[in-house]
Amino acid sequence: MGKQIKESIFSRIIDKSAFLYDLTVFFVHFGARGKRYKLIPRLSGRILEIGCGTGKSSLNSNEAINIDINPKFLKRGLRKNRLTIPICSSAYHLPFKEKTFDAILVPDTFHHLVFHHKLFRECRRTLKDNKARLCIFDPVKVKKGNNKLHSTADGITWNFTIKGLYDRIIKLSKTHRFKILSSKITKFKSIIHLSGWCDILFTLVPK
Ligand SMILES: C[S@@+](CC[C@H](N)C(=O)[O-])C[C@H]1O[C@@H](n2cnc3c(N)ncnc32)[C@H](O)[C@@H]1O
Repeated sequence: MGKQIKESIFSRIIDKSAFLYDLTVFFVHFGARGKRYKLIPRLSGRILEIGCGTGKSSLNSNEAINIDINPKFLKRGLRKNRLTIPICSSAYHLPFKEKTFDAILVPDTFHHLVFHHKLFRECRRTLKDNKARLCIFDPVKVKKGNNKLHSTADGITWNFTIKGLYDRIIKLSKTHRFKILSSKITKFKSIIHLSGWCDILFTLVPK
């Protein structure tokens, strides 16, 4: 199980400035910026991106609907031409009908959400059956430890280890009737990875 830690003052400042957010991402992912976001799969059909931020992770998912709870981030993403259809919304109450999407992407956002069950319930409700995909791409600590750099609109962030995130996703999948299709761990020579983090991509399908 991941450890819940409080948001730092630095994180709160970043939440208020989309420019500072982009700058932070630039430095944190320095050494693997392009490569890291290329790990996010190209999905087809009707796509929803949850927690798109300023659209850095949206470049791979063309034609997606992008939602985020932070209007400042959406505004910058739109201005920079990174977002297709930005909507200010919470991950917990998606403003879409049942079985709307072929794929939902949650990039770098899972650890910012307090209520994972609400996220999974909404994803299950709005995803089509059978071939639909839920992709969760998240950074995790290779070993145990704290990191307080993350920002979150909810005021809290999770500090997952690899095992912690696996356990969490397995539990959520069982409860909300998803099957884990694949999971892939990646490590680059970026600043964040060299300081003890790696990325995991989970691909889930509704059962
Ligand atoms: C680390 S950022 C990732 C942004 C983008 N995907 C990227 O990779 O640059 C996490 C994002 O999750 C958003 N977020 C946090 N809580 C949320 C919620 N309850 N509903 C929707 N978005 C949320 C934040 O506003 C922030 O933009």
